[in-house]
Amino acid sequence: MALAIGLLVLVLNLTLNGVSAQITGCGERPLVGAPGGSRIVGGRNAPDGAWPWQVSIQKNSQHFCGGSILSAQWVISAAHCFDYERTQLNLQVMAGERSLLRRGQHAQHRDIKKIIYHRHYSVVAYDHDVVLLQLSTPLHFTDRVQPVCTIQNETEEGTLTFSACFITGWGSTRYEGPGVVRLREAEVDLIPRETCNQLHWYNGLVSENMICAGFEEGNVDSCQGDSGGPLQCYSEEQQRFYLVGVTSFGDECALAMRPGVYARASKYTDWMDRKQLRSASSTLAYSILLHTSSVLSALWLLT
Ligand code: ARG
Repeated sequence: MALAIGLLVLVLNLTLNGVSAQITGCGERPLVGAPGGSRIVGGRNAPDGAWPWQVSIQKNSQHFCGGSILSAQWVISAAHCFDYERTQLNLQVMAGERSLLRRGQHAQHRDIKKIIYHRHYSVVAYDHDVVLLQLSTPLHFTDRVQPVCTIQNETEEGTLTFSACFITGWGSTRYEGPGVVRLREAEVDLIPRETCNQLHWYNGLVSENMICAGFEEGNVDSCQGDSGGPLQCYSEEQQRFYLVGVTSFGDECALAMRPGVYARASKYTDWMDRKQLRSASSTLAYSILLHTSSVLSALWLLT
């Protein structure tokens, strides 16, 4: 009986903590209202708490890439961010703060327990430029720390309509310029792949696993240091933000006919769910093993 209850508690704990962010809500920002219709050329400072799933990934406390919170223990980022970081030592994730300058009172820092690359990630073609980071301990969800919604499948992708899309990050505000200390945001348009692949645009470089966002004339874009961070779109019907892309690459920044290219998040929903579940179930198997053995040894001691 005790074992059964123990197991039940464990299972509940693991599902609530680790995997099923969608149950506890996602893509909502308690501190900021729905996005307005105005377009921001070149971007602006993000309001406090506007992007609660945005994280900064840091090495020895230096920001190098962005990421998005999927659930309490998982963050998605770009694989190319880790081209030179084959070990998770010295790497940390910071959630809950828009300033990189000081250790703010809302900041939650976590070590990285595991880096899971997409196994088809191509350094050459930048295809499948996604990575999952498992955090050492779960984040606490607060007004400033929340998971983003993921698009569940192609049917959902077809039915969702987005009223506005935004890119966010601490990256440079011009090509080869310095990064910023305050999180910035900019509204962008999603650009059809056919348009983006035209001869004078990316000329066929954009695969099915990528999505372009920005403007034909340029001027608004992500840039170096924004990689791994979210391209997020708002559904008025659901009143939530969905992760649509993961910042991947671009030809310089904000050039005309060279919009930002993002890993297309909807292509990776299965992969994200599978990896998170698998690791949760191995943790579960391990806990069951521990639990059973302690119950057994208790029984053995009693007899
Ligand atoms: N690869 C860049 C990074 O590592 C992000 C580039 C995005 N570039 C762009 N023009 N949208 O931070």
